[in-house]
Amino acid sequence: MVVQNNIDLAPYNTFHIAHKARTMVWFSSVNDLHHLAHTLNDDYIVMGAGSNMLITRDLDELILINAVRGRTIVKDNDSDVLVHIGGGENWHDIVLWAVNEDFGGIENLALIPGTVGAAPIQNIGAYGKELSDVLHCVYAYDTKTDCQVNFHRLECGFDYRYSHFKGPWKGRYIITGVVLRLTKPGHHAISSDYWALEKELEDMGVTDPSIGDIADAVIAVRQSKLPDPAKLGNAGSFFKNPIVPQSHFNKLLTSFPELPSYPAGNDQVKIPAGWLIDKAGWKGYREGHVGVHRNQALVLVNYGGGSGADILALANSIRRNILEIYDIDLEPEVNIIQ
Ligand code: EPU
Repeated sequence: MVVQNNIDLAPYNTFHIAHKARTMVWFSSVNDLHHLAHTLNDDYIVMGAGSNMLITRDLDELILINAVRGRTIVKDNDSDVLVHIGGGENWHDIVLWAVNEDFGGIENLALIPGTVGAAPIQNIGAYGKELSDVLHCVYAYDTKTDCQVNFHRLECGFDYRYSHFKGPWKGRYIITGVVLRLTKPGHHAISSDYWALEKELEDMGVTDPSIGDIADAVIAVRQSKLPDPAKLGNAGSFFKNPIVPQSHFNKLLTSFPELPSYPAGNDQVKIPAGWLIDKAGWKGYREGHVGVHRNQALVLVNYGGGSGADILALANSIRRNILEIYDIDLEPEVNIIQ
């Protein structure tokens, strides 16, 4: 366990917001968390790679950095493997490892920034797949009872960019590891019907994609649209794609006949927030040090020197404007620490 005080947070969040943390602790085992048990009241924040958070102030809370490592095959049969992965592992490294081992199921989730431990919290998803499709169970440390617990995927309340970890369980559990169920060669379920992925595979001249081809195509699409957080501060999609009643969508169609949508069940429709923000004229907009990415209107960026408050002010202006135009209140996808 490593403890440091008065830390500049800029390298620890992908928006590169330069606030300070009073105390930062790197934990690498459940045992470390047992040692910290007496300090784990409500005043702590767990950070993975800081890739889905917007920090708007100095942090006096105890900052816990997940440094739990390891990838272990815990079960192996003809068709699939169960792999236990430490919560502090880098998500994309795990995707590359799985593809290299010819274990299928997470190739569509290549290049998503962040740690494995953060992945279940918002049920990361991209290009037609979500973590919950392959997640078997989550290991977590319960700060209330000082015990390690295990949740089967069906207990976690997974939904679009949602789990109980960011709902009713928020603040109670620290995710130490996950177990994924990955397919073995001959049993892969290739998912390539997302429009941007289909097009990329076509450009690559691939007709019968392997999991490696899918990962390559996803990486190419992401690199062409989404800014690399190492070069340009951002946290991916800033807002969730809103889900509205079919009747609301039909009303919008009269003014916006090209409005894209995806069925969301229960007479509801999911609308791409990026389209709404783009059509409202925000794409490429810049205000001082912050702005809206020029290739993806759903991504807010820090050109350098921007504060969390600057990003938040921009997000709020966009949110108000989208409400005015489409009568839709966008919900932030990133975790805003105010
Ligand atoms: N669109 C525009 N203008 C834009 C951006 C998008 O018109 O500036 C349109 C596109 O043309 C397309 C639709 O909006 O018709 C959807 O765009 P895209 O496929 O880029 O996906 P998205 O809905 O904007 C979601 C996820 C991404 C994920 C991609 C691919 C959310 C909030 N975002 O974005 O996830 O990579 O789909 O599956 O669900 C993230 O969560 O941080 C993230 C990047």
